[in-house]
Amino acid sequence: MCGIVGYVGSREATEVLIEGLRRLEYRGYDSAGVAVLNGSGVQVRKAVGRLSALEDELRTNPAKGGVGIGHTRWATHGVPNLVNSHPHVSYDGKLSIIHNGIIENYRELKNELLEQGVQFKSDTDTEVVAHLLAKNYDGDLLATVHKVLKRLRGAYAIAVCHSDEPNRIIATRVGSPLVIGVGEGENFLASDVPALLKYTRKVIFLAEGCLAEVTREGVRLFNTEMQPIEATVTETDLTLDAAEKEGYEHFMLKEVHEQPHALSETIRGRIEGERIDLSELGLTADMLHGVNRIAILACGTSLYSGMVGKYLLERFTRIPTETWSASEFRYADPVIDPGMLVVAVSQSGETADTLEALRIVKAGGARTIAVCNVMGSSIPRHCDATLYTRAGPEIGVASTKAYTTQLAGFVLLAVGIGRLLNRVSDVEEARIVQGLRELPAQVKSLLDEDIVAVKRCAKRYKDVFNFMYIGRHFNYPTAMEGALKLKEISYIHAEGYAGGEMKHGPLALVEGTFPTIAIAPQGKTREKLISNVQEIKARKGVVVMVSTHGDEEARELADYLIEIPACEEELSPILAVVPLQLLAYYTATQLGRDVDKPRNLAKSVTVE
Ligand code: F6R
Repeated sequence: MCGIVGYVGSREATEVLIEGLRRLEYRGYDSAGVAVLNGSGVQVRKAVGRLSALEDELRTNPAKGGVGIGHTRWATHGVPNLVNSHPHVSYDGKLSIIHNGIIENYRELKNELLEQGVQFKSDTDTEVVAHLLAKNYDGDLLATVHKVLKRLRGAYAIAVCHSDEPNRIIATRVGSPLVIGVGEGENFLASDVPALLKYTRKVIFLAEGCLAEVTREGVRLFNTEMQPIEATVTETDLTLDAAEKEGYEHFMLKEVHEQPHALSETIRGRIEGERIDLSELGLTADMLHGVNRIAILACGTSLYSGMVGKYLLERFTRIPTETWSASEFRYADPVIDPGMLVVAVSQSGETADTLEALRIVKAGGARTIAVCNVMGSSIPRHCDATLYTRAGPEIGVASTKAYTTQLAGFVLLAVGIGRLLNRVSDVEEARIVQGLRELPAQVKSLLDEDIVAVKRCAKRYKDVFNFMYIGRHFNYPTAMEGALKLKEISYIHAEGYAGGEMKHGPLALVEGTFPTIAIAPQGKTREKLISNVQEIKARKGVVVMVSTHGDEEARELADYLIEIPACEEELSPILAVVPLQLLAYYTATQLGRDVDKPRNLAKSVTVE
């Protein structure tokens, strides 16, 4: 994520930039910064944390001028601190740049620049682009950006200004959003429309790979060959509130729909051909030498992803693995030794129970890996290695995209470790890699279908008091997570149960109006779960089935059928949970609940 904004005109640039960044803070708030040109150089101001810290900095240390760029950061390369904050400035102090995205080949470019004697201040991929631009600068910023673009791989939206050309900003994008705002005697750019709405409703959506020159007088666009292209100016009818949520009614729904992109980000750069590449984690066979058991520590939704993680790690590494609720682990007098590898899972990276459990295992000499969404947060800082899930900021309290990306992270980790230990064959690895490649499009197709059965179901059962969710093996945790989603946002009681356990007690609950959600995609335990469903049907229970497309038996049995695309068994929890997120969402909205901020809960649980 990250938000970028730019302004050229006769107002004080910082006022426009701060207003824009405020509207983009949902894209990240690890740090913020601006660079302003006033004809005699560039003035850079930055602050770590929320935008208000930057506002304080600007009050003490103002930056005057009518041309500027601003950035709100969601860290991907380098922890959230002042030197890693944007804008980044080139070694000659003349060029400043803001960036949203990831430059995948930054290491290679950085090495090249280091050889040429360039000194780096930050750990970011963005600083590499600043220096590369300065090295290639020939007095024409537009031509320089065009030239340097050819060397960049990855996804990015960037905006650049140069103190020798104080009247223009050059911007471009590949794979990350960038919109230009058209005004009278002033022009703007931003990652997203809300940043512009206070000033203009006229916008140009910059096409992939194109360049824009933004000046007071106007906007010129160029294609990849540097031929001028016609700008299509559209009038947006978005309101500020709707625009931040990109038209979705709630952040939760937006985040559910962001899952295809989030999953692509998690996988990006970590699969090469038919192989999983976790070299960024610094994991080696040596580092894993002597590991004889794995413990996964987490809370809530992250705990359920850890439960799937156990099955994955055991399948691919054959190392005994247990999953612990971090709050239980802490007080269970656990046996810890250096043969233990601990995986701490957390969206926020700040959950107090997980952090405390981590301290205990570290003191006992265990090796530690974090699976985390927020770069530089406390849990990764306490771990030996981190697999960042790169889902982007999650604002809705109910975790959705963080969960599915954690699951994808566990797939990468399990197969990656399995291969390092020579316990995964090439064929097996290629099968999973292929499945991972297909995953984002499969989740998208599932979301595009709009899942009519989910909405019908939510309408029909919104007034019941109890729900049962059942699944087995990989999808037993899916049942727990589906139930948790419903509980936390609709306030309806729901239980997630292992299908085979129903006959040991809970079957007594079943009668005519009692709904059970049965998660039975293709896989080893499908048939067994179908038998569990038959037991429920025999007692006149209502069954909503989540099964693989074309499963005729499920179609015959189900009162409501929700179909997911066929996939590898190990990846099925990622697809199966999506309709359950939506079921919870539509039930909660029908009941008029505050979906993004359910009662009694908080996004980050930093207390015990
Ligand atoms: C539920 C939810 C919580 C969190 C839990 C752990 O939707 O979001 O159960 O999963 O509080 O939080 P993290 O993952 O930040 O450690």
